Amino acid sequence: RTVYVNGDYLPEDQATVSVFDRGFLMADGVYEVVSVLGGKLIDFDGHMVRLKRSLSELAITNPLSDDDYLAAHRELVARNDITDGLVYLQVTRGNPGDRDFAYPPADTVPTVVMFTQAKPGLADAPAARTGWKIVSVEDLRWGRRDIKTVQLLYPSMAKMEAKARGADDAWMVQDGAVTEGTSNNAYIVKGNTIITRQLSHDILHGITRAAVLRFAREAQMQVEERAFTIAEAQAADEAFVTSASAFVMPVISIDGTPVGAGEVGPVARRLREIYLEESL
Ligand code: PDD
Repeated sequence: RTVYVNGDYLPEDQATVSVFDRGFLMADGVYEVVSVLGGKLIDFDGHMVRLKRSLSELAITNPLSDDDYLAAHRELVARNDITDGLVYLQVTRGNPGDRDFAYPPADTVPTVVMFTQAKPGLADAPAARTGWKIVSVEDLRWGRRDIKTVQLLYPSMAKMEAKARGADDAWMVQDGAVTEGTSNNAYIVKGNTIITRQLSHDILHGITRAAVLRFAREAQMQVEERAFTIAEAQAADEAFVTSASAFVMPVISIDGTPVGAGEVGPVARRLREIYLEESL
């Protein structure tokens, strides 16, 4: 695989980053994941808008222009012959030369790393036909989940708990209400209404979420942006999650309780179809 590091395209075993990089020492960095379908970047502009917001919230100087990011994405997709898959992009505060809690001077050069992951048949993932089983866990992450930082240890722990309990993913719960999945936004459906948590510092502002809510409204569905509980989700007609890598993924059970008929529902199936059609 060819990867990108600070302007260079290198074989992955020749790409290096300093041990003093603050991304490594302090998880001081942000990332984006853009999916690739049929060689095309999906929702690229939205991901760049969020990247710039994440960087600015952390006062990390944005090292590249949108055109540079786009060119690098395209170059990696071409060099690695990616038809379906994703591009991972990470920008960290870089290497100040030593470890210090204070941010280094603003002229410290950020580290930019990008790589691809091939996922043949990504749009036809078998899981989209069977749906995911979800378990609930307490949301123990920090209070600025709207910044897409690389501190992913708790979501990783929650994913492992989900697997240990025979499920596919975990929904995290704060003060009795669902925030989001380990790496996706969470939704329930009641009749003609789609319910998903309102935007705040408590969740990541999903790029897929924005697109799916727009398509839902265009399809004359009602959208309610508000918090919901696990009990309300278990009693809903349907549930699903969205992300750049899962698109719209149906959810069929929560903590062992079937949601609706316990199978992939028509709304989730339809929104997945619309999202993939409109994105391609
Ligand atoms: N995760 N919520 C969290 C906590 C996420 O990590 C993600 C994305 C989302 C969905 O955002 P979007 O629709 O913009 O992908 C919501 C990416 C895919 C990841 O970590 O791999």
